[in-house]
Amino acid sequence: MAEEFIIEAKKLCKSFGSLQAVKCVDLKVKKGEIFGFLGPNGAGKSTVINMLTTMLTPTSGTARVAGYDIVAEDNRVRENIGIVPQEILLENQLSARENLEFYGKLYHMRKEDMEARIPDLLEMAELTNRANDQVKTFSGGMKRRLEIAKAFMHRPKIIIMDEPTIGLDIQTRMVIWERIRELNKMGITIFITTHYMEEADLLCDRVAIMDQGEIKAIGTPDELKHGISKGSIVEVEFTGPQEKFIKEIGKLCNDAKITENHGHVVKFTCKDPVNAIKRIIENAGPAGVKIDNVSMHEPSLDDVFVHYTGRQIREQSAENLQGKFFAKMRG
Ligand SMILES: Nc1ncnc2c1ncn2[C@@H]1O[C@H](COP(=O)(O)OP(=O)(O)OP(=O)(O)O)[C@@H](O)[C@H]1O
Ligand SMILES: [Mg+2]
Repeated sequence: MAEEFIIEAKKLCKSFGSLQAVKCVDLKVKKGEIFGFLGPNGAGKSTVINMLTTMLTPTSGTARVAGYDIVAEDNRVRENIGIVPQEILLENQLSARENLEFYGKLYHMRKEDMEARIPDLLEMAELTNRANDQVKTFSGGMKRRLEIAKAFMHRPKIIIMDEPTIGLDIQTRMVIWERIRELNKMGITIFITTHYMEEADLLCDRVAIMDQGEIKAIGTPDELKHGISKGSIVEVEFTGPQEKFIKEIGKLCNDAKITENHGHVVKFTCKDPVNAIKRIIENAGPAGVKIDNVSMHEPSLDDVFVHYTGRQIREQSAENLQGKFFAKMRG
């Protein structure tokens, strides 16, 4: 393999009937990096992952994983990758240990090799004392941890994980990320989707943001943050919707660029946030506008996400939907 890219997709497309779920995606993942693949629900992340892991055939375009073509050399691709799918795929009737053995056998691992490896993986999954219990008796978090450990069983060069930490408590998530980091230090490339922006920011060398089947931005978290704003982000919360006053913000603070406007909450970037806040407070009173809160922060990966997708991450959007749902029920 001549290239330093361990995953390389060229104009990768997937359609389901008339729906173009993935539209000509170009993607390069460097050997040895932790690469975060971010995007709102339905963006096409799992579809890309399912193609890279040979579970789906592309409609057009190509990709190479570990140097092998995902269609013509799908067996070789599978040998080189470990997969943590979005949906848990364990054998419920088998124990934790038997699940790992079952998977090792699929990869033709030698018995001694499996015996040496399984205790470490059970430890990683914090399931040593449940090793012989049937998986059907496990909690959701325990199943997830076993699913992750399973992906490492055959010592793959690349681990591709589709939201591995979803639904896990914060301590478990931190333990899992710590393990992922350790494995990465040993040279394993990690390709991961997550909806936890803070984790992506802390742990990923580079991230891509996908929306509506396309990659909107790609780079290190810092590059992306600086890419959306050279300055700080100011957030102002009003008592009620303040469309007229919000329109004036550009004039009050001359380099202000509004990034989010929810009517009663507005966010904008500017180079001199202290002066901008001062001007807004001075002008609010005379304009008859009541301000509830003003704050400023450096751009975060959350801001980058909203900038490119126009949407908050899943948790928030789910909350909004739930709010709307209950509002409708109340009539
Ligand atoms: N097998 C399928 N048949 C038809 N449509 C599909 C299929 N798989 C995915 N889709 C559609 O493709 C689009 C992208 O879905 P995908 O699962 O890749 O999104 P995602 O980015 O992984 O979202 P999430 O964050 O919710 O997991 C969606 O509109 C989805 O309904
Ligand atoms: Mg998905």
